[in-house]
Amino acid sequence: MDAVRRQAVLAHQRKYWDEHGNPRGPDHPVVRFFASQRVAYIERRIDLSTVGSAVEVGAGNGFATAAMQAVVPRLAATDLSLSMLQANPLRSRALVQAAAESLPFASGSADLVFAWEVLHHVSDVAGAVREMARVTRRWVLLFEPNRNNPAQFLHSLLAPHERGGLKFTRNYLARICREAGLAVRSIETVGATLPNRMPEIFLPLLRRVPFVLPVVGISTAVVATKDGRAG
Ligand SMILES: C[S@@+](CC[C@H](N)C(=O)[O-])C[C@H]1O[C@@H](n2cnc3c(N)ncnc32)[C@H](O)[C@@H]1O
Repeated sequence: MDAVRRQAVLAHQRKYWDEHGNPRGPDHPVVRFFASQRVAYIERRIDLSTVGSAVEVGAGNGFATAAMQAVVPRLAATDLSLSMLQANPLRSRALVQAAAESLPFASGSADLVFAWEVLHHVSDVAGAVREMARVTRRWVLLFEPNRNNPAQFLHSLLAPHERGGLKFTRNYLARICREAGLAVRSIETVGATLPNRMPEIFLPLLRRVPFVLPVVGISTAVVATKDGRAG
């Protein structure tokens, strides 16, 4: 994709998220449950005692930010969309408008760089992961829709702004990470909760579903490290 086309995609994404946002906020009970399950999973896969600082990419209105700020001492949140950032509840207000493809942080300046459901909206996925690998000192964490989950597949097919999700297989994510110089530590399909859509009445049922769900989990979770370091 050439530079002009990339700029056009960025402008389109910014306008889309400025105008639509997420239907729910981070305080919605279903979103809180969704994020707390993810944070518990992250605590099992990443030694958070090694994480003093983190940069969140595509933080939006803060589904991840709200939960991650409880476990990471210094967190900065970035997003392309100003109106999404304005809704973000980050307590330190370290909010930065920035594209994933060019993060305004020094190389190796954060212990963890993470993105939840962002890369499938990005035109230069490999460039964004290279940027995440550049900024991190150690950990990179990604959650992206799992196209092998039937609901995610249909959503990606039918919603034009979600179509990028169709190429997000485990192999694709693993390859993009490896090409960015990262060592993949774990890659798993996880979760059964669709945070923007599922009614609250489903929560008692969702609490009974194991978080790691081989093949059909709604998301693929990737934990990777820089330079082959495990942590
Ligand atoms: C599905 S939302 C996810 C938001 C947040 N991570 C969450 O978990 O709720 C996708 C977000 O990615 C942002 N985004 C899209 N393209 C981007 C890009 N190239 N660089 C940075 N952010 C981008 C959008 O503005 C939007 O906030």
